[in-house]
Amino acid sequence: MKKDFLSLADCTIDEVRSLLDLAVTLKAELRAGGNKPRLSGKALAMVFQKPSLRTRVSFEMGMIQLGGRALYIAPDEIKLGQRESVPDVARVLSRYVDGIMARVFAHSDVVTLAQWASVPVINGLSDYTHPCQGLTDLLTVQEKLGRLQGVTLTYVGDGNNVLHSLLLGGAKTGMHIVAATPTGYDPLPEVVRLAEADAARTGGSVRLLRDPREAVAGADVVYTDTWISMGQEAESAERRKVFPPYQLNSQLLAHAKPNAGVMHDLPAYRGYEITDEVADGPQSWLFDQAENRLHAQKAILVQLLER
Ligand code: CP
Ligand code: NVA
Repeated sequence: MKKDFLSLADCTIDEVRSLLDLAVTLKAELRAGGNKPRLSGKALAMVFQKPSLRTRVSFEMGMIQLGGRALYIAPDEIKLGQRESVPDVARVLSRYVDGIMARVFAHSDVVTLAQWASVPVINGLSDYTHPCQGLTDLLTVQEKLGRLQGVTLTYVGDGNNVLHSLLLGGAKTGMHIVAATPTGYDPLPEVVRLAEADAARTGGSVRLLRDPREAVAGADVVYTDTWISMGQEAESAERRKVFPPYQLNSQLLAHAKPNAGVMHDLPAYRGYEITDEVADGPQSWLFDQAENRLHAQKAILVQLLER
């Protein structure tokens, strides 16, 4: 395993499998009374350029449960790249803490942090990818369906960071990832190429479509995310015109397999990309998925920091 966790593209198929195994172990151990203090005395700096509920709280609680501690650094505090250069922040933090988790706008900032930090750097979401979410999503599907190999997961909506993580993670675990996105909102071709290369090895596949109904047909899991990612607020009006045909509502869900699971990384903009009926319906996995952020990230923390 590399020093850092920046993208699922950097992990081998075996590394993804062993992170999932470790997450399952840590979840069971927590439920059985508590985790061993594997990260006793270790500290994680959590640097945020954007808001967060899940990432902030699950990383902080994860460190506490593993016997360590986490320091929250709010967007206005260090002003990454503005008040101080990214390489300087990386070198200073490396003198104080044992790991850095960063949520950034530009993916290049998390790459630069990793280059200059002597401690592990974890990508807590960039404009390019959300690998902690991707690993969580694999854990959730595996837990719900008992396998990843051969599972069809259809994503409807924006070809964004969350879809990128699903493509990269799904391809490495033999899943069939189908995505329906509007013209102009496709996932990046380089991500699709990486995913196709892995899928060819694992027996998975990648299918990119425009029509959400066609995409959802036969899906074991249907996934959506916000139409307006953090940093895209200026495009809100345009995006709200383009995306409504991609709303995950009961009519669309009816085209998937009976009892198909529903996933969303959250926060959900109810009434836009997902309806209340679906988000709160019997097929929703939303809050089990949110819980799994904790368990998946603890596996990443143990893997990178317990050295
Ligand atoms: N899914 C997710 O990353 O949530 P937060 O933005 O609340 O961290
Ligand atoms: N695509 C969303 C995910 C939020 C967790 C964003 O980047 O804002």
